[in-house]
Amino acid sequence: MTTVQIDWKNLGFSYVKTDLRYVSRWKDGAWDDGTLTEDNLVHISEGSTALHYGQQCFEGMKAYRCADGSINLFRPDQNAARMHRSCDRLLMPRVPTEKFIDAVRQVVLANEHFIPPYGSGGSLYLRPYVIGVGDNLGVRSAPEFLFSVFCVPVGAYFKGGLAPSNFTTSSFDRAAPHGTGAAKVGGNYAASLLPGHEAKERGFADCIYLDPLTHTKIEEVGAANFFAITRDGRFVTPRSPSILESITKYSLLDIARDRLGMQVEEGDVYIDRLDDYVEAGACGTAAVITPIGGIEHEGRFHVFHSETEVGPITRRLYDELVGIQTGDREAPAGWIVKVR
Ligand SMILES: Cc1ncc(COP(=O)(O)O)c(C=O)c1O
Repeated sequence: MTTVQIDWKNLGFSYVKTDLRYVSRWKDGAWDDGTLTEDNLVHISEGSTALHYGQQCFEGMKAYRCADGSINLFRPDQNAARMHRSCDRLLMPRVPTEKFIDAVRQVVLANEHFIPPYGSGGSLYLRPYVIGVGDNLGVRSAPEFLFSVFCVPVGAYFKGGLAPSNFTTSSFDRAAPHGTGAAKVGGNYAASLLPGHEAKERGFADCIYLDPLTHTKIEEVGAANFFAITRDGRFVTPRSPSILESITKYSLLDIARDRLGMQVEEGDVYIDRLDDYVEAGACGTAAVITPIGGIEHEGRFHVFHSETEVGPITRRLYDELVGIQTGDREAPAGWIVKVR
């Protein structure tokens, strides 16, 4: 077992080799039982479809240490269900929900000493993935598949935690109108590298993608979903078939409606109507809630609440969400699965 010497309060979002990861293989129509391994290298055929044709998908989720020492998973059934949809879209076999959650549990328990302590602001990020493997050459679905889960202790994804970040729109798209935007597949992220790099070179935290058909509506914020609060206190978030359905976003939607008593809607967020909103944020497992200070679009910079201060509703949403995840606030039924 590794002796862990980690500066828990200053964790970023970078790879750390932890002790054990779960691996299971699919062959001849069935998944094997799976096992934990110390080997963090993946040995696959050079003809693997994952390498040439992008036949792969992944998930991102977290385990949280609670004040009483127990360990929470936040809505893992939703990650399993989304991975089913990603696998369906790329013609890969589904990992059954029970197997998925069991693999995640095994990895968390096997690396328990890597879970950041309660109150440190960190968590254990889990990365399940499915890749097409086995000898192959033509464009077709792989003869074999590999399902694996590894974990990494993480802190804030965007520098500054709950401090606002600025974003700029991109003229590129990460996904096509009827493409794979709603699936969590590597190709979407490969397509996002150049636009993200360009935004960061210009001093922004990341770029905002507009809808691929008309480029008039906000879709996503880098690898996170977008929400905004209207002047009359409504929680609004974009709806589109090319957006990844964020588990965090749908959780915030429920929290805004059921706990903050707000009106909520999924609809169109036009990039030339930003004056309608008094607060905005990026949300996701990694981003948690990152307040959006301002958005640059076509040479104009629009500031929401403030470039330095988090807005009051964003703060309440954050406190409620993180409180539920870390066990400090009561969770809606079924949202928390205890690992231990
Ligand atoms: C493109 C994209 N959108 C949105 C999200 C947020 O989704 P979730 O809240 O399920 O983590 C993520 C991160 O997982 C993402 O990669």
